[in-house]
Amino acid sequence: MRVAVAGIGLEVEDHGAGVPLVLLHGFPLSSAIWDPLRPALAEVARLVTPDLRGFGGSDKPDGGYAMAELAADVVALADALALDRFVLGGHSMGGYVAMRVAAASPERLAGLILIDTRAEADSPEAAERRTAAISAIGRDGGGAWLDGFVPNLVAASTRERAPRLVAELRAIAATVPGHVLAGCQLGMRDRPDSRELLARLDVPALVLVGAEDAITPPEAAAAMAAALPRATLAVVPGAGHTPSVERPIQVAEAIVAYLRARR
Ligand code: MLT
Repeated sequence: MRVAVAGIGLEVEDHGAGVPLVLLHGFPLSSAIWDPLRPALAEVARLVTPDLRGFGGSDKPDGGYAMAELAADVVALADALALDRFVLGGHSMGGYVAMRVAAASPERLAGLILIDTRAEADSPEAAERRTAAISAIGRDGGGAWLDGFVPNLVAASTRERAPRLVAELRAIAATVPGHVLAGCQLGMRDRPDSRELLARLDVPALVLVGAEDAITPPEAAAAMAAALPRATLAVVPGAGHTPSVERPIQVAEAIVAYLRARR
């Protein structure tokens, strides 16, 4: 369905009943990464998965891609759906956005799920890579850059076992225009550090990571779980940076167990 927020339209899937669970996809993907989890999660929760501004079927305005701006869209979406408190989960860039929601509107969170993401800001080297990416995207719209980037979204073992997954993720990324790719690289480069924030978030939390994630590795997940006052850490074997599509059964089981335990 289409939901109007902040002057734009977001494409949103909203199914099931129970505690509201809002899941935010990472870059440069869409809510399609949650498709393999929907049947299991919609049995225990009201599962709400937006395409973030610029991605999937949502509008793709020229600007508004700072992490705090994407977070404001999420709070406006929750308002539009009358979700007072909700469990918020984010994958990678979606995790950066979730942490900005937690910073701006902590009272709305009934729980937090951080999937293959990190709390610290970009290192100087990572920031330089983003700046180079923005230039590369500016040259040809991002096609060549995405060809190099997308395979890293899954583990080397997944590329061997299920090469079609990389093609599927590449097809999702192909729908993201260059100004959105560049806007989000800039937004991620300039995002603030969230480590002190995590220590203040006294809600039940699940930190989940693919054991073979090379972008936001298990050490980053362990550090977030240690910083959060009430977190469980789940490491998913045989998965890289996008475990919801690489190992959906294990991810669904971990989220269902977390939702049951927080009741
Ligand atoms: C993502 O998967 O959302 C991004 O690759 C994360 C990042 O670049 O920091």
